[in-house]
Formats: sequence, structure tokens, C-alpha cells
Amino acid sequence: MTRVSLIIDTDPGVDDALALMMAHQHARVLGLGIAAGNVGLDHTVRNALTLMDLIKADTPVFPGCPVPLVRPSGENAAQVHGADGFGDVGFADSGRRAENEHAACALLRISREQPGATLVALGPLTNLALALRLDPSLPERIGRLVIMGGAVHGRGNTAMAPAEFNIGFDPEAAHVVFESFGVFDLVDWEASVRHAFEGVRFDAWLHSGDLRAAFFSRVCAISRAWNARLGRTGVVAADALAMAVALDPGMIIESETRHVAVELEGDLTRGATVVDWEARLGRPVNARIVLKVDTQRFAVLAAAALGAKAA
Ligand code: BDR
Ligand code: CA
Repeated sequence: MTRVSLIIDTDPGVDDALALMMAHQHARVLGLGIAAGNVGLDHTVRNALTLMDLIKADTPVFPGCPVPLVRPSGENAAQVHGADGFGDVGFADSGRRAENEHAACALLRISREQPGATLVALGPLTNLALALRLDPSLPERIGRLVIMGGAVHGRGNTAMAPAEFNIGFDPEAAHVVFESFGVFDLVDWEASVRHAFEGVRFDAWLHSGDLRAAFFSRVCAISRAWNARLGRTGVVAADALAMAVALDPGMIIESETRHVAVELEGDLTRGATVVDWEARLGRPVNARIVLKVDTQRFAVLAAAALGAKAA
């Protein structure tokens, strides 16, 4: 597998943390743009710095937008990730500082300095949308865009039944990105649930891994309990799946390339991703929807990022 160069926009977040450890294990990470989403921006920035400390990475951390582009979101994901976004473990403050440059500006600058990198979006798309409005030529300098977001058959995970969290948090931003980027890879919530790690297998990695595994087992406790209450026995790691697809596109076994739009209105439907499955709308395709990946290749990438070996 070639070591790719990544620019990551993220709202850490439990599954973001696993994805970021995978990125640093397997790729060259050029920078982290930080979004508000799972919890507020102060927490997501702090969590990114905590994680960079833990893995001893000097990746620059760029704080982004504290609120969505147009309408404030009434929802966060603290019930899944903890009030601080990192499982309420209570980590000490990091000695590191975030950069002064805004995430949207940093994304534009890095894309000019190092064109052709893969951009991976693991949170609400606010920073990406802002960058696109500042400089619509951004997609010309991005080799590939991978987005974790959406629920392509309408089985979302928010209070608006069909909406997935990242898209539902800032639908207008998602609309701007979906309309502007050519064809991107979309890893949706439903694929994430289908590709959950088997609990016992994941626990074996947590027990046999290094300090990253010890860290992750503390951070993920609340989110695993939340999933268990919903009857899910596996470990759902949406952002880790998107990261795996970014690192190793060869693991995709099944995908459909379609037009995907974002619903901006509706008391029940705002934030839904609407897929033109039968190409009836005559609109240009914009998303390769990832439906199935090689689960063993995904497992190998995730386990290695915890210092463990996938059996
Ligand atoms: C997405 O929402 C967040 O809670 C997760 O970090 C992931 O990016 C899943 O819907
Ligand atoms: Ca996330």
C-alpha cells in the first residue's frame, strides 16, 4: 500500500480518534482542520491536541468554525462521545497549542503547497464549505475527497429520522460540498453499521495493543455502552471506516456512483441525503457510495493503529 498524503477535517470524537490513529500509522498527515460537531469546538480542538500528544505527532491542528454556516444545530453527539467528546475520561490539558490559522485557510494553503493530497472529512462539512466559498478552485488541487456522512437509504442516526449526524449538523455546508467537488467517495452511516467490528475481536486488540489501545479503551466506553443500549453488539466506527477507504481504496468491493443531494428543508427530513438511485433526475453523478469493503483489510488497518494484530 502506498503511503498517501492526507489533509483531515475532523470533530474528535471517539471514532474520529481511531481514524486519526490509523491515519498517523499508515499515511503522511499534512494537517488537521477541526470542526464543531460531536461536541463544541473548544472540546474538539482540545481532543485533537490530546491525541497528537499521545501518539507523539507534530501534525498542526487548525481550529475551524464554531457553528454551522446558516442555522445553529440543536443537536450534538455528547450522549455518544461523552460531554467532552473523549469519553469524559478527564485527560490533563495538553502542553501543545493549536495554530492561529483558520482551518478553511489552512486547507486552501496546504492544497496549494502540496496539490494532489487526499482530503478526508470526518465531521460536519462547515470548514470545507467555507474554504470552497473562499476559493472555488480548491477541488482542482485535491486528489481525492472521502466523506463520512449521510444515510443513503434513509436510516439515519439523529432526531431527524433520515439524517445522519455529520450532514444533519450542517446541511447547507454539506450541500455546498456535494455540489462543488466532482465525484467524492461517500462512506455513510448505514455502511458503518454493516461494517461494525465484532466486539470480542475488538476487545482482543484493546488487550494486546500498546498505549494507543489503552487510551482508546478508556475513551470508547461511553460510546460502546450507548451502542449496546441500542442492541448493537459490535463496535461501530464510522470515521475509521471512512479513513480505511481513504488509505486503501482497493478494499472497496461494492459501490454505486450516483447523484446525492442534501435536503435543506422539512421538519422531518432536513439533513437527509437523497440518492437518485435510478438516475431519473438527469443530474450529474457526484458520489461513489461505498457499500461493501473487504472487512479483513479494514481490520488490519485498525488493529495496527492500536498496536495490535488483526487475527
Ligand atoms: C458521525 O457522527 C459522529 O458522531 C461520528 O464521529 C461520525 O463522524 C457518524 O454519524
Ligand atoms: Ca466525526
